[in-house]
Amino acid sequence: MTEAAAATLARDRTLNLFAKPMTYVTGKGGVGKTTIAAAMALLAADQRRRVLVCELGSDGHLARLFGRTIDHEPTSVSPFVDAANFSAEEGLVATLTSVLPVERIIRAVVQNRVLQMFMETAPSVREAVLLDALGRHFQAKKYDNIIVDLPASGHAVTMLGVPQMIMKLMRRGPVAKKAEALEAEIFDPARAQILLVALPEALPVQETIELSQKLVAATRMGQVGIVLNSSAPHLVDKKEQALLDKIKQEAAQGSELRRHALHLLQAAERDEKALRELAQATGLPVFRLPRIEDANGFQDILGIAKAALASYVA
Ligand SMILES: Nc1ncnc2c1ncn2[C@@H]1O[C@H](COP(=O)(O)OP(=O)(O)OP(=O)(O)O)[C@@H](O)[C@H]1O
Ligand SMILES: [Mg+2]
Repeated sequence: MTEAAAATLARDRTLNLFAKPMTYVTGKGGVGKTTIAAAMALLAADQRRRVLVCELGSDGHLARLFGRTIDHEPTSVSPFVDAANFSAEEGLVATLTSVLPVERIIRAVVQNRVLQMFMETAPSVREAVLLDALGRHFQAKKYDNIIVDLPASGHAVTMLGVPQMIMKLMRRGPVAKKAEALEAEIFDPARAQILLVALPEALPVQETIELSQKLVAATRMGQVGIVLNSSAPHLVDKKEQALLDKIKQEAAQGSELRRHALHLLQAAERDEKALRELAQATGLPVFRLPRIEDANGFQDILGIAKAALASYVA
């Protein structure tokens, strides 16, 4: 599919994504979160918004998408777009400095083996440091929009609950204060929102619905919509449906034509079902992103995904 073909896949619904400065993208593992986060960043840049797209300590699909190394410090990957992959190890000194402002002691502490063990065994420390790195960029106001590629479902829910968990554990002191400030800043429902990504299969649809419900319970932030990724090229309208039904009845058993007609009908039916179930259960608008079949590498997929999503984004 060409970018032009992808761009024509519009439906008359808009995804108001950039009105809030922070968007968290999440969904089940492997559904296309990183691809969609990066495509959204490119769309924001088209509106001349300065945007940061970041992963939180992941092993880095953003680097493959942009064809370059991406690490803790944001780096320019395209006009108006910076990308980063925050690292807990790199962020730790900055986080501790903001809580205990004596850097020399902190460096000694950070290099301590016991502390490193603590980092490895207490996962919420990692998460808190990653969120703190995000908070620093949010506060610096260098970007109009920050798009955060969150980890997959369960881990994302845990991550969004980390500041609250720290506040419960500590109640007082500099760390609790820091967690409270972080929660108020980066998870502020007035300035931050969640975008979900799903696939049009029964199990992923069910898991997305459960994720959406868990997020309602876990955070005050709202969800702006669901991208139904890897869907069919387009929804079959009534006229096409009649034509396909006719082919199904009249074309020879086992013929190429009949096989294609059946395939299109099944994919359309599957997508309609997924759209209906997702929208009904979550009350969220659902935006289809077709499966990109003939792309030449990750960067090509990114370009086509961007063109397809462009028709939705306000
Ligand atoms: N619409 C699409 N059509 C075809 N391939 C796609 C599409 N969207 C994503 N992909 C491909 O699917 C794979 C998974 O995508 P991606 O890495 O964005 O998913 P993810 O949800 O971030 O995964 P993870 O949970 O591992 O971080 C990648 O190879 C990506 O290029
Ligand atoms: Mg990813």
